[in-house]
Amino acid sequence: MNASKMISKDDKRLIMLDAFIRKQQFKKDALIEILHTAQDLFGYLDKDIMLYISKILNLPASHVYGVATFYNFFKLRKSGTHVITVCLGTACYVKGAEEILSVIEREFNIKRGETDTNNRLSLFVTRCIGSCAMAPNVIIDEEVIGRASKEDVLSKIKSVVGVSLIEAG
Ligand code: FES
Repeated sequence: MNASKMISKDDKRLIMLDAFIRKQQFKKDALIEILHTAQDLFGYLDKDIMLYISKILNLPASHVYGVATFYNFFKLRKSGTHVITVCLGTACYVKGAEEILSVIEREFNIKRGETDTNNRLSLFVTRCIGSCAMAPNVIIDEEVIGRASKEDVLSKIKSVVGVSLIEAG
């Protein structure tokens, strides 16, 4: 199956989403859970990812879209230019994810669940993304960083934000 423009088939987030869907045995009634997981991994649900889920579950796209728009906990638009998601599931929490999250909040003057004032960065937290062996996990745009350290995460965020500033300038 073709992945969307938003994602390539080698995207680790897509591989994790596929694993979750398999774990749910492709059940149509797991749609809300699957949408939650997709949002946790990608930061939001765009039409390509909803289309992907509709194909893999063999559901009409209009149904998937209808469910995603019905519940206000689903975000249908990307927030900041860059999306950072920190896993706060048990394994990641135990391995220091909360500390990484606090450092990001301090360094970039942003709170979890928010987008900064110039729309450069959104910071989200998620429950387990199914990669506990690599805890703590932080997702920076399309990259899943396993065994993340504060230093690695900060320098990666600075480099992606820096790149976007150069592109914008
Ligand atoms: S708790 Fe973070 S991946 Fe499982």
